[in-house]
Parts: sequence; structure tokens; C-alpha cells
Amino acid sequence: MGKVHDRTAGGRGVKVRVPARPRTSPRSPAWRDAVVHGDALDTLRRLPAGSVHLAITSPPYNVGIPYLGYADDRHHDDYLAWLKTVWEELHRVLVPGGRFALNVAPTSIKDFHPIHHDLSTDLRRLGYIMRTEIIWYKQTMGRRTAWGSWKSPANPHIIPSWEYVLVFSKGDWRLEGNRADIDITGEEFQRFSDGHWAIPPERHRRGHPAPFPEELIARLIKYYSYRGNVVLDMFGGTGTVASVARSLGRHFVHIDASPEYCELALQRIARVPAASAVGIAAPRSVTEADALSPAR
Ligand SMILES: C[S@@+](CC[C@H](N)C(=O)[O-])C[C@H]1O[C@@H](n2cnc3c(N)ncnc32)[C@H](O)[C@@H]1O
Repeated sequence: MGKVHDRTAGGRGVKVRVPARPRTSPRSPAWRDAVVHGDALDTLRRLPAGSVHLAITSPPYNVGIPYLGYADDRHHDDYLAWLKTVWEELHRVLVPGGRFALNVAPTSIKDFHPIHHDLSTDLRRLGYIMRTEIIWYKQTMGRRTAWGSWKSPANPHIIPSWEYVLVFSKGDWRLEGNRADIDITGEEFQRFSDGHWAIPPERHRRGHPAPFPEELIARLIKYYSYRGNVVLDMFGGTGTVASVARSLGRHFVHIDASPEYCELALQRIARVPAASAVGIAAPRSVTEADALSPAR
């Protein structure tokens, strides 16, 4: 909605409605509202310090998922060491009080690693404040098959019907912002504050093995950020975080190593209706990481 201004000298005359100033200036930096084809760590190194308010991501889980162009089966310690370098760079890129919501699933039953413990330990050692963990209950128990020893205590299995969203802050619990840029309703705030979120997995996979459901991302964005903030996903896949961020009036940064997923994300973001994305630019093409600033 625009503001009403008196356009005549002396304060007399017709009042005209001037459209609200777009939040994106013509000199908007190349990384903002961009789909970046590149490696997560290399691209983060090219982003300025203190430029992102909220990061939401789900890294490759290292459980052999067949992503296009990425081998999801590193040695567990190498995998954690690699992610730690990414979290370290993210810490630099977040604003003071900036948030990081990390989605991670329990690993397979047989070769079980409590990876959410490993990740939260690493992030806290890097200086992140751990705010909470949300249980994303996926309601998938109708499809269970791996009982272990059926109806016997000999070796029964617990089937993971949930995933975690571990939530962290940089430096401060508070994120400063304008009250006018809050868009969560009282009813939503009350409902989301219960950390057990029952949300079915995404049915529309868009050729990707593990996309986020939009409802999960919309809740995180409304709960943890203000309109006009910058929301990042450095393992962005099909662009769920970027397109929901844009539809909620936030800037986005989408990074993925696969050119095919970047192209899918670009098409998806471009379909967000302009009316819901006031002031947020849709990227016109996929940007290569080395077209941003030189890596630090
Ligand atoms: C779990 S999926 C993310 C799916 C995403 N949340 C969505 O809604 O579509 C992980 C993504 O990380 C990407 N990826 C793997 N290694 C990467 C790297 N080194 N840098 C950037 N992206 C990478 C994969 O291509 C894959 O799309």
C-alpha cells in the first residue's frame, strides 16, 4: 500500500497516492535475489559479512541419496568436517542476531549416527547460540515396513517418523527489526510456538529426491524474520526456501551445486505472483558463483 502525500506547495491541494518505495534499489547487489550456481562454501565466501538475516537449509544427508551430480556418501567424519567449514563461513555472513534453521533427518536404522547431536555440538563450538529444536513430525507411519523383530523385544526397530529443525542465533538472541515488518498473526504465533510441527512431506517433488514442504519453510520464515530481511539457502535444491521467502516479501539467496536444480529453482521463483512479492526481484537468470565478488 502506498503512502498519501500532499504534493502541492503550502500544503493545499490534491493528495495523491504514491506507490510504496520498492525495497530493492536499482543498485541491489548481485547476490541478492539471485539463484547462484556454485559450491555452498565457495559462494558463501563471496557474500559480504553481516548480509543475511535467516538461513534455512537441509544439507545432503550423506546417506547415499542420488542427487544430480553429487556423491552423497562421504566418510562420516569428513562429511562433518566439510559441513563445519560451511557453518563457520555462514557465521560471518549472518547479521548480529541472525538465525540459522538446520533441518536434519535421523540416519538409517542399521547404520545409526545421531547426526543431529554431532551437528549441534559443532555449531555450538563455533559460537552459535542454540535456541531450540523443532520436531517436524512427518506423519509417514502408514508406510512402515522395517519392524526389526516383529512383536518381540529381541531386536525391534523404532521407525523415524520425524526430522529435526535445529535453530541457532549468531551472537544475540534478539533480531532487531521494525514492528511494521512483522507479518505473523497472533494465532500463527501461538500455534508455531509449540515445537511439534505436524506437516506431511512434500508430495510434488519436482524431480528432486528431498524437497522441503512449503508449509515448513513458511512457518520458519514468519516466526524468525521480518519482511524485507534476506533469507538464504546454501543447499537450495528446487528453490523452496527462495520461492516461499519471495512470496512472503523477503529477499532470497539460493545456492546449489547442480545446474539442473538451479534452473528448476529459477522457474519456480519466477512463478511467485508479483502481488505477493512486493519489492522483491525475481532473478532473470542463474548467476555463476564466480560472477559475484572474489572469494575471501
Ligand atoms: C537435501 S537437498 C535440498 C533440497 C531443498 N531443501 C529443496 O527444498 O528442494 C540438498 C541439495 O544440496 C545440493 N548440494 C550438494 N552438494 C553441494 C555443494 N557442495 N554446494 C551446494 N549445493 C550442494 C544438492 O544438489 C541438493 O540439491
